[in-house]
Amino acid sequence: MTLAPRIVPSVLPADFARLGEVCRDLEVAGVDRLQFDVMDGRFVPNLTFGPDVIAAVRSWTTVPFEAHLMVEEPDLLAHRYVEAGCGIVIVHAEACRHLHRTLGLVRELGASPAVALNPATPASAVAHVLDLVDLVLVMTVNPGFGGQAYLGSMEPKIAEVRSMIDRSGRQIDLEVDGGIAPDTIAGAAAHGADVFIAGSALFRDPEGFAHAVTDLRTRAEAARR
Ligand code: DX5
Repeated sequence: MTLAPRIVPSVLPADFARLGEVCRDLEVAGVDRLQFDVMDGRFVPNLTFGPDVIAAVRSWTTVPFEAHLMVEEPDLLAHRYVEAGCGIVIVHAEACRHLHRTLGLVRELGASPAVALNPATPASAVAHVLDLVDLVLVMTVNPGFGGQAYLGSMEPKIAEVRSMIDRSGRQIDLEVDGGIAPDTIAGAAAHGADVFIAGSALFRDPEGFAHAVTDLRTRAEAARR
């Protein structure tokens, strides 16, 4: 069953000199959560937020935080991001030698375990861990940078993961991330996504955060089947 659409900004495009204020402003704009794109310069060719940066902005807002760990060794880092205030920890299937064990570790830390799939990774990679996760993230770009073009070719995979989730009988968020914008969100929603990560499209809306959040949510609602 697809839940009501949730809009979750990636703060990757934010002015990092004002990150706390931006997080506060995004809460005021009505976002459902905030996502921090954690990159280690190894799993992806970019370097971003350490746990201390997230801890520093935790008190600026009350919305839940999710850490998208685009890192080579999530087992070594997950606890730092939970301690920093992230209630959801997303690990990449491609980065986990023992994905089943890593997801269990996240649950033991008291966070919601989530697994991300890069564009080339089949939906079947999560077939045997759906009982362990609260969220599956289907990447609609190759990870590492914001502002990339949405990969419409991922829509059949979104639909496949939606079917797997529905057959599991568990309440699992189906999140998409990458190139989500007014002209692409409907396709992702129509294929079964219910959580939408938006970075550049949200930050560049000339009418501001609240307009962007409402517009994206409305478009996703209208596209649901
Ligand atoms: C890729 C990042 C981006 C970011 C959103 O590694 O995960 O997808 O969150 O970027 P936009 O919305 O600008 O494509």
